[in-house]
Amino acid sequence: MLIQAENLHVGYRSGTGTAWAVKNFSLAATYADSVGIVGESGSGKSTAALALMGLLTHRRDCVVKGDVFFEGRSLLREAPAGLRKLWGDRMSMVFQDPMSALNPVMRIEEQILELVRCHRRMDKKKARDLAITWFNDVGLPDPQNILRRYPHQLSGGQLQRVMIAMALICEPDVIFADEPTTALDLTIQSQILSILTRLCADFGVTLVLVTHDLAVVAETTRYTIVMYSGSIVEQGKTEDVLGRPQHPYTRGLIAAMPRIETGTQRLPAIAGAPMTPSAEWSGCRFAPRCPMAEEICQKSRPGMAATARENLASHAAACHFAQ
Ligand SMILES: Nc1ncnc2c1ncn2[C@@H]1O[C@H](COP(=O)(O)OP(=O)(O)OP(=O)(O)O)[C@@H](O)[C@H]1O
Ligand SMILES: [Mg+2]
Repeated sequence: MLIQAENLHVGYRSGTGTAWAVKNFSLAATYADSVGIVGESGSGKSTAALALMGLLTHRRDCVVKGDVFFEGRSLLREAPAGLRKLWGDRMSMVFQDPMSALNPVMRIEEQILELVRCHRRMDKKKARDLAITWFNDVGLPDPQNILRRYPHQLSGGQLQRVMIAMALICEPDVIFADEPTTALDLTIQSQILSILTRLCADFGVTLVLVTHDLAVVAETTRYTIVMYSGSIVEQGKTEDVLGRPQHPYTRGLIAAMPRIETGTQRLPAIAGAPMTPSAEWSGCRFAPRCPMAEEICQKSRPGMAATARENLASHAAACHFAQ
């Protein structure tokens, strides 16, 4: 297994205590796989992804319990130097805001060469040629010119292409992409997503894609994890989760997906707001918004079938009435 998370819990510490943002999160992803993590804002998607990369391991304001393994190595027990060796080399990231990932006062060339030469023995000329090859692959015209620019001299779409090239240049085993296209306009969004998924598939890189958009996972990922209020409520092969959803929340998300034939008709959004992940509640966390909720849902938290956590193909939902 490439990445495995077991009973992952992540909390943010504050003066008043620890707010648990992710609870009981499990995942297994193999080589050349693609996994989508979807859910509404605040459901814990980014927190889960950051913990999966080991980015929260040494953060003083975070508590991480359970475990995450990268090729059997625990990322929660790995020293900072070991993690830094993995990042950019075996695991890379593409975030929503490329400006925050780049240094504003360094030319693109310096930043990409530094990354390559940090992980590979390569002279500047070779590293530069490699950067140009990748810039071509991600569809950046005139790569030489892009290399000479500063981040603020590029458009959002160009910057995100640069980030994808930087994520792939060391040929990692996995890329975590957290809402990589939500800041871009619609046509550019789909171009960038298709470049990312095509290159990951071509190079056998596993893609873990975080998005609030089910339509995006429908097109791009083999496996789908649906999060609600900090926990996984449904998971399975994307075609199963979208084609035969078992959880009322997933059904609500699907019903709210814009479709071409819907035209200007208003989509039925799920009424009410989600419970914050840290709120105390012993029942099903979706119950207050659920059209199917019964007494048992208010009282006891439905579990997820154990097999779904270990098996890359199984489909399960945490609902008392899941079929
Ligand atoms: N640095 C932080 N300190 C304290 N609480 C945080 C921090 N980051 C996130 N949270 C809280 O953790 C919960 C999960 O947030 P997270 O950002 O993981 O959600 P998300 O699903 O990625 O949302 P979005 O779709 O808006 O990006 C939220 O309740 C959020 O307020
Ligand atoms: Mg997020």
